Amino acid sequence: PTVLVLNGPNLNMLGLRQPEIYGRESLKDIEKACAEKAKALGLALDFRQSNLEGELITWAQEARGTKAGIVINPAGYGHTSIALLDALLVTELPVIEVHLSNIHRREPFRHHTYTSQAATGVICGLGATGYLMALEAMANLIKTKKA
Ligand code: DQA
Repeated sequence: PTVLVLNGPNLNMLGLRQPEIYGRESLKDIEKACAEKAKALGLALDFRQSNLEGELITWAQEARGTKAGIVINPAGYGHTSIALLDALLVTELPVIEVHLSNIHRREPFRHHTYTSQAATGVICGLGATGYLMALEAMANLIKTKKA
């Protein structure tokens, strides 16, 4: 089973971008850690990032019937994009939403995400570790779905 990990806008700047909020790890570092974790869980990993809303939507659509689940950090689009929410619902796949920062401890406009409406669970505030926890939870969701 392959898990699609989708990363939204500005996450390509991780490490450089407000490191006091988002940490010093680059997206490449997070991808490496995810690849190791996925391997240990017996999952294949498809790890992607885009700054374009439409590209994220197309990738989500393509996951329908081809991927086992989606871990998504929608970044800013989580707070704005009904279209990205709709695309996640189209997939009919288990979805876990991740945010590096604790969005509930920040500005009020970050407290709500449209995309979480499609998610089985949401992990926020635990930095890159959140991605690894999401993969672990996803492995369990995929297993119990099959059983
Ligand atoms: C983020 C939180 C969002 O509010 C923000 O727009 C991001 C990153 C996070 O991982 O903490 O770009 O999703």
